[in-house]
Amino acid sequence: MNITFLLNGESVELKGVSPTDTLLDWLRETRGLTGTKEGCNEGDCGACTVMVTDSEGPRALNACILLLPQLQGRAVRTVEGLKGPDGALHPVQQAMIDHHGSQCGFCTPGFVMSMATAHAKGATDHDDQLAGNLCRCTGYAPIIRAARAAEGAARPDWLKSDRAFGATAQATDAPRSSDDLAALYEANPSAVLVAGATDVGLWVTKALRALPQVIFLGQCDDLKTVDMNGQTIRFGAMVDMNRVREVVAPLHPSYAEMIRRYGSVQVRNAATIGGNIANGSPIGDNPPALIALGATLHLRKGNTRRDLPLESFFLDYGKQDRAPGEFVEAVSFPRQPDNLKCYKLSKRFDQDISAVCGAFNITVEDGKVMSARIAFGGMAGIPKRAARVEAALTGQPWTVKTIETAQAFFAEDFAPMSDMRASAAYRLNSAAAMLARYHAETSGEPASVLEVQP
Ligand SMILES: Cc1cc2nc3c(=O)[nH]c(=O)nc-3n(C[C@H](O)[C@H](O)[C@H](O)COP(=O)(O)OP(=O)(O)OC[C@H]3O[C@@H](n4cnc5c(N)ncnc54)[C@H](O)[C@@H]3O)c2cc1C
Ligand code: FES
Ligand code: FES
Repeated sequence: MNITFLLNGESVELKGVSPTDTLLDWLRETRGLTGTKEGCNEGDCGACTVMVTDSEGPRALNACILLLPQLQGRAVRTVEGLKGPDGALHPVQQAMIDHHGSQCGFCTPGFVMSMATAHAKGATDHDDQLAGNLCRCTGYAPIIRAARAAEGAARPDWLKSDRAFGATAQATDAPRSSDDLAALYEANPSAVLVAGATDVGLWVTKALRALPQVIFLGQCDDLKTVDMNGQTIRFGAMVDMNRVREVVAPLHPSYAEMIRRYGSVQVRNAATIGGNIANGSPIGDNPPALIALGATLHLRKGNTRRDLPLESFFLDYGKQDRAPGEFVEAVSFPRQPDNLKCYKLSKRFDQDISAVCGAFNITVEDGKVMSARIAFGGMAGIPKRAARVEAALTGQPWTVKTIETAQAFFAEDFAPMSDMRASAAYRLNSAAAMLARYHAETSGEPASVLEVQP
């Protein structure tokens, strides 16, 4: 593939790029830009964080799972390009020095790039902004102090050109719309679609898989839209998880809070809602919430479109109702009063895959359960509804006794597995406890499970 992008303010044209070359390898091995570090090479540690700007603005991304063709038409800043032309440090770099934010220094370039991107966006929720950056020796307090100290500083002029480039650059080989994609994929059904590459990137860096034919979806702007009307909310497949979080926050705050713990800022900036559904993962965090909201999946193959309830898409472990050449175009759900609670249970609070993720959407009127939609990740080989628990609740009084009766049905709905994240018994107990928690929360009783409140 041929691509053009801006690197630290200079235009770069690459011909014949392999679709599996990562930005991290290219920076370090081809360009000698070794400031960007390799820690985990799987999106977990943030040592490789770079700032990538397009017409939507700057975002922090992990270079280790960013494939070079994803950069087409975008502007990349590495730590080498953060200082001004006269050598002046970026305010976050100066603040890191002033507040002793670096000891061995291995994590520092990644932190600095995350901090500079947050600074450019005016984001001051530093704990969340830096949750995807790991430091093993300095400790986080001086780093957070540095981030706070830089909050008010003006954004350096030398970074402003990046956005202008993103707005004007033209794409080359990749499809530019869902119509282009539909035609290309129908003609090449064995191609691998690449959305955010937070899964596909790991196939390359960890499984060392060759990908003979790849279609990058990043230029299909019409798949990045969010359409809202009085009845429904529809997310195009390429809407990234930080955008999903922004959109759902005022409507279903518990869903947004769950997304806050989905990967890290860098992962959420890349990962798409379409990829999180299409990959069919039994522990993807969106499907349970969307199924509980009654979502519809919109699939497309060529010019043929079909819709199905999201839960029907997941047939069996690793098997989805998707034909060769068919792709996820969008997912939508009806607007509704907010009764949704999402509970993500993982070994680590931040940036960890769920052991169990439960989503509960229960309507109670006059003390009686009118409807219940409950869905789980991590309880079966697919994201799955708790149909018998739902039936045991519906029509019953909203009481502790009803909850206790319904809890017994989790063992009929699910036969979870034991693995490194949790045992089967723990998963069943957790699911039952989540139902009790939902009841407690909606009855005004204390239900926080956080030992340490921020
Ligand atoms: C460090 C890290 C942390 C993570 N944390 C979480 C987490 O907390 N919760 C969670 O749920 N997931 C997590 N993930 C997993 C991953 O982020 C998600 O599954 C993500 O949503 C995948 O989306 P993507 O756009 O990156 O997909 P990609 O990697 O681009 O693609 C994934 C799969 O979907 C296919 N695909 C993509 N788009 C489409 C489409 N429109 N139509 C048809 N097929 C398509 C691809 O061909 C591929 O098979 C994490 C991943 C990493 C690396
Ligand atoms: S090297 Fe760890 S996130 Fe990229
Ligand atoms: S300064 Fe050593 S890992 Fe952060």
